[in-house]
Amino acid sequence: MKGIVFTEFLDLVEDKFGIEMVDKIITSSNLKSEGVYTSVGTYEFSEMLQLLTHLSENTNISIDDLLQVYAEHFFSVIKRSYSGILNMYTDPIEMLASIENHIHVEVRKIYPDAELPTFNVLEKTSKKLVLIYKSSRAMHAFGLGLMNKTFEHFNETATIEFEKLNDVATEVKFIINKN
Ligand code: HEM
Repeated sequence: MKGIVFTEFLDLVEDKFGIEMVDKIITSSNLKSEGVYTSVGTYEFSEMLQLLTHLSENTNISIDDLLQVYAEHFFSVIKRSYSGILNMYTDPIEMLASIENHIHVEVRKIYPDAELPTFNVLEKTSKKLVLIYKSSRAMHAFGLGLMNKTFEHFNETATIEFEKLNDVATEVKFIINKN
């Protein structure tokens, strides 16, 4: 997992819960990096899982809720650092339908070692999109947060439902209806 995901996460934890919480979740985790991240480095996903688990235990907020809020923050990082990709779109359905064949393809050019999910399009009209998310990292809640912010970015709203296709949620179906 790319360092930018860790640095932005710890910044948000500091903002919302204070620097003591950052110290607490780092010291209670067993981290090869010792909790020192640079935005261009690459670190084990298990480190993010440990940080999230400890934050969840200390705040009583579920990991999925934490991931969704974090994704909403991460969208502002995308706006700031990857506006070139974002500005190629004028419609949220078009953008979300292009994660697999364009957006994350561009991300891989920037970070060849990025660990990205797949988002296959099952159904697409101008108002409706059905996507299948697949990733061993089971971060569909991160996807949900980014989807919500994608609609907000284009001043639109949508009803987004999802269905876990297996117990571990490594495969999730998203049904997105523009309002
Ligand atoms: C992961 C970039 C749009 C869903 C990531 C990562 C980056 C990234 C850097 C982390 C990779 C790693 O740590 O190795 C971008 C950029 C975007 C974009 C620059 C737009 C310009 C989206 C959108 C979605 C999405 C719209 C919506 C569903 C995800 C998910 C992950 C991810 C769910 C977590 C990894 C996983 O589930 O395996 N993206 N992304 N991304 N992205 Fe995107």
